[in-house]
Amino acid sequence: MTERVKKLWSELDWIKDPSLREKTAKTWELALKRSVLKPGDLEKIPFTLLCGPDLKVSFMAHKRCVVHIAKESGEKMNRFFGKNLPVNMDVLISGAILADVGKLLDYELDKDGKVVQGKYGQYLRHPFSGVSLAEECDVPPEVCHIIAAHAHEGDLVKRTTEAYIVHHADFMAFEPFKNRLTV
Ligand SMILES: [Fe+2]
Repeated sequence: MTERVKKLWSELDWIKDPSLREKTAKTWELALKRSVLKPGDLEKIPFTLLCGPDLKVSFMAHKRCVVHIAKESGEKMNRFFGKNLPVNMDVLISGAILADVGKLLDYELDKDGKVVQGKYGQYLRHPFSGVSLAEECDVPPEVCHIIAAHAHEGDLVKRTTEAYIVHHADFMAFEPFKNRLTV
């Protein structure tokens, strides 16, 4: 695992299986290698381009929040449902860390150095590009499924328990920014 990925994602340590941890880290390293963005940019750029120019929450703040929500949700489900609905925590955490890794390929810098959506990301939204990166790094299909199904594309397939958790964690940390009742 490279130092920059280790620094970016301390949550990788939560993955118990060393092989899965390494493959998860490798996917992020590959994405960083192919991206115009540097790890420092991820702490600065807004996590979505869909909420207008005033959004101050960074890409990493959002990603990290989703991973934390997913982990705690999985732990609660294992605690309360036990073998009636077992959650594989390694698969869940790896999938949550990788859900948006494809977004690194979405961005281009325009001539003023501003982050804009590039053509690649328009043709292949990040669930698709994320699976592509992950498969290059031998990430297993149960984790690729989470990447593939975490956004609205996944509404068309049957999700695993782990994919449901990441999907809801992601949307609960997104929808109130996009459209909430304020009184
Ligand atoms: Fe996403």
